[in-house]
Amino acid sequence: MADTPASDPAYKVDALIAEDIEAYLQLHQNKGLLRFITCGSVDDGKSTLIGRLLYDSKMIFEDQLAALEADSKKVGTQGQEIDFALLVDGLAAEREQGITIDVAYRFFATEKRKFIVADTPGHEQYTRNMVTGASTADLAVILIDARKGVLTQTKRHSFIAHLLGIRHLVLAVNKMDLVDYDQSTFEHIVADYRSFAQEIGIAEFTPIPISGFKGDNIASAPSANTPWYTGPSLIEHLETVEIANAVAQAGSFRMPVQWVNRPNLDFRGFSGLIASGSVKPGDAVRIVPSGKTSTVDRIVTMNGDLDEAVAGQSVTLTLADEVDVSRGSVIAAADDPPESADQFEANVVWLSDQPLIPGRGYWLKLATQTVTATLAQPKYEIDVNSLEHLAAKTLDLNAIGVTEVTTDKPLTFAPYADSRQLGGFVLIDKLTNATVGAGMINFSLRRAQNVHWQSVDITRDQHAGMKNQKPAVLWFTGLSGSGKSTIANMVEKKLFRMNRHTFLLDGDNVRHGLNKDLGFTEQDRIENIRRVGEVAKLMADAGLIVITAFISPFRAERQMVRDMLPDGEFIEVHVDTPLEVAEARDVKGLYAKARAGQLKNFTGIDSPYEEPESPEVRIETTAMTPEEAADLVVDWLLRDS
Ligand code: ADX
Repeated sequence: MADTPASDPAYKVDALIAEDIEAYLQLHQNKGLLRFITCGSVDDGKSTLIGRLLYDSKMIFEDQLAALEADSKKVGTQGQEIDFALLVDGLAAEREQGITIDVAYRFFATEKRKFIVADTPGHEQYTRNMVTGASTADLAVILIDARKGVLTQTKRHSFIAHLLGIRHLVLAVNKMDLVDYDQSTFEHIVADYRSFAQEIGIAEFTPIPISGFKGDNIASAPSANTPWYTGPSLIEHLETVEIANAVAQAGSFRMPVQWVNRPNLDFRGFSGLIASGSVKPGDAVRIVPSGKTSTVDRIVTMNGDLDEAVAGQSVTLTLADEVDVSRGSVIAAADDPPESADQFEANVVWLSDQPLIPGRGYWLKLATQTVTATLAQPKYEIDVNSLEHLAAKTLDLNAIGVTEVTTDKPLTFAPYADSRQLGGFVLIDKLTNATVGAGMINFSLRRAQNVHWQSVDITRDQHAGMKNQKPAVLWFTGLSGSGKSTIANMVEKKLFRMNRHTFLLDGDNVRHGLNKDLGFTEQDRIENIRRVGEVAKLMADAGLIVITAFISPFRAERQMVRDMLPDGEFIEVHVDTPLEVAEARDVKGLYAKARAGQLKNFTGIDSPYEEPESPEVRIETTAMTPEEAADLVVDWLLRDS
């Protein structure tokens, strides 16, 4: 191809993956950037279309092209035409060796703009991948096979794109060559799509009749084959569509602080990516959540100071006053700061094979803030195919639902519809560190704003002081029948005789009262431990030594209770009895029932027990008597007194 400008570095292209983004962007630094996603399946001609886009924007290396022509001949495409799908699939395969890339990012540029296209597998089980690709995209190309029209998957793709805040949709009606470039076929599909789009709140979209295979209306329009079409070609549209940055720049100024830049005592700057609005030296700003105000002194960048910076730019701000700003703070326009709240309604997309566990604590990351969040049972799940609302107790992989989120600290946020950066979050499993969900905040819940902490005059220390003891929670954990209750009971007796103020909370007893509404599903056990944890904490606040005996099978919830208490007050006691031994004892006859299938979700049989990794005290009940075990615990508790 003589006209492939392979020698011009500005036209370098490759199917780069994320790490290479930086280098590539620098090459095209001064051009605007459009991120888009293509939605459709292989059958819709997606790979062919992307290959064609790369080819028609003259962004292919000569050697790749030569290889492609040779390959196309090998597989014998019709005529002598190049099979563009081979190009894209080939590049992807090369990159994906050994690692799983769910989303392939490809880069290309024309004279007017540079582009990043997220190419995601189109199959239903890959909602996760589409969400990943769509979360940063400005535009989505929804591919339709002209012979098939609007399909269920078209609706699913459009819904997810819309949900993730993509405001520019292109309806690419592909394979027009296979319907003889028939205008009425095209118009029929567009009308069909329009009525669906209105239903879900998509205000506008740009329909383009194309053939990825033949190249019609890809680079320039109108193609001689579609003289009835007067709109732009796909590339023309991608080059000129006005992107959302304009919207972000119009909003009030907000910059989440990524890090505090303090190279020496003379300089203290706050670095971050501007989420919305613009800023100038002299502007009044407010730090959220502290509420302190100051004025912007300088806008510092690698290439010198700026007179103004806008949404999408990464900068370092210095302020006129010494105010307390740390990672996670948001610097905002003084007269219009963002909201802070600790309860929200959000749309959540579940990305993990392990279903959502309502009530469990997950890490929630929003902009530069990290907090612990628990999700309630979903209000409903959205069937991504029919868009119906379904009742749901949890969310499985790829499910999308609406739920309430509670965080342990207030988050500074904006509704996702106003700001992707301040309204979008990810959820991370605390034990595996895997990203398990993505969410979009709809609004904060008022009850969070209207319930305040009441301050009381008699402090925790005074309560403990009057009892002349240090409060503690002795948390016994272990299998059913391991001996928790027996040992806990002896510990309490020993402490009582020593004039300590104690209280014993026992699983079987609490389940007759406070927690009689709970069973033994994972979710109920988590709620059981949450409530017991809260009660134990209140009792410790009252100055008591609390002793609890619950199976408490999950590490995450034991950790949650540990985190509720001051350092050193949570003492985890692992009553370590092998399953065979507990089962052989079978004091309550429950193991026999579980083995006979008469008792479901029995710990150790068909429900897991996660052993403590580093308990304060470990008791091997096969190596000592309950009396000796109780002494061990009491000695540990009173070791400094
Ligand atoms: S926990 O898992 O939620 O911490 P908890 O300690 O409150 O359990 O209750 C455990 C007690 O409930 C057991 O000692 C046993 O007597 C009884 N029980 C009834 N069904 C089950 C079950 N499916 N699994 C475990 N214990 C059960």
